[in-house]
Amino acid sequence: PGFIKEHNASLTGGNKWLRRYVGASYSNNESYVKGNAYTRVGMRGNFDFIVTKQIKISLNTSWTRGINKRVPAAWAGGIGDAMSNALPIYPVYNDDKTYFRNGTSNPVFRHQVKQKPASVFCLASGDTPRLAYQLFAEAVLKEEVDVSGCTFIGLDEWLGIPSDNEGSCASFFQRYLTAPLHLPAQQWLLFDAMATDARQQCTIMDEQIAAKGGIDLMLVGIGMNGHIGFNEPGSSIFSKTRLINLDNSTRISNSHEFQNITKVPRLALTMGISTILSAKRIALMAWGMKAPIVARSVEGQVTEQVPASILQQHNNCEFVVD
Ligand code: F6R
Repeated sequence: PGFIKEHNASLTGGNKWLRRYVGASYSNNESYVKGNAYTRVGMRGNFDFIVTKQIKISLNTSWTRGINKRVPAAWAGGIGDAMSNALPIYPVYNDDKTYFRNGTSNPVFRHQVKQKPASVFCLASGDTPRLAYQLFAEAVLKEEVDVSGCTFIGLDEWLGIPSDNEGSCASFFQRYLTAPLHLPAQQWLLFDAMATDARQQCTIMDEQIAAKGGIDLMLVGIGMNGHIGFNEPGSSIFSKTRLINLDNSTRISNSHEFQNITKVPRLALTMGISTILSAKRIALMAWGMKAPIVARSVEGQVTEQVPASILQQHNNCEFVVD
């Protein structure tokens, strides 16, 4: 058991010309795991100078400092890991905006490669899987797994965005997998978003997947509107790899990948729902604010209006959520 201690002190006062408030607070939340605590110290001051009946000058200042005392990461594993991951004192994000982690490498990937060294992975890009890829790359570099026989496929791509543009899915994979693992281009199947015939790109992709014997592990994220890949609401369960019109909500939520919203393409290339369903195993990852759409996808009716809900019909699909 731990204690939560809160201490506050303040001074108020003033006269006709000056009103003042000075306050200080101290809070210490011990957790139920020994060695963990969150401490916050804060100070605030407000001063109002009444110069004339019409003129008032205000000065407001505040300062807060939070200190996280955590168990060391090496403690990860077993029940301790489960408990420490559940602790409310952990931040969701690190300072560089990546997700905070208190674990080691991702068992889903490792297991897949160990079971089948020539596995075919189809991967989403985006904020959600970034850490999983980093952990996977770390495991590969530590030689826990050998991916030299694997094929990696990009799930989707923004139309008209060259692969060296930072916003492209191709450059995302380059940063988190290809560069750290020195993966040769032959191990990747990616859409050419600059090709003159985008539709032909889709046919080529489907043919290449078939030639590889299908997808072994499909890793998808989920949009706030329930999209998987770029299959926006209304996408048919029979849809194949194709060119799609993006919802504005998708463009807005991805605008941080580009200079501004006007630079976010209106069209994208994506595996279709039927292509996704053809994978032997599917893992959907989602964190935090995706909870309502995850609930609709898992517990709601199967509907093309919530594309992720169609995954209920797959017999080897898991949702990995926080
Ligand atoms: C991206 C993709 C999308 C994302 C989804 C969630 O390749 O297929 O479906 O997975 O939009 O994006 P994040 O993870 O950035 O919240």
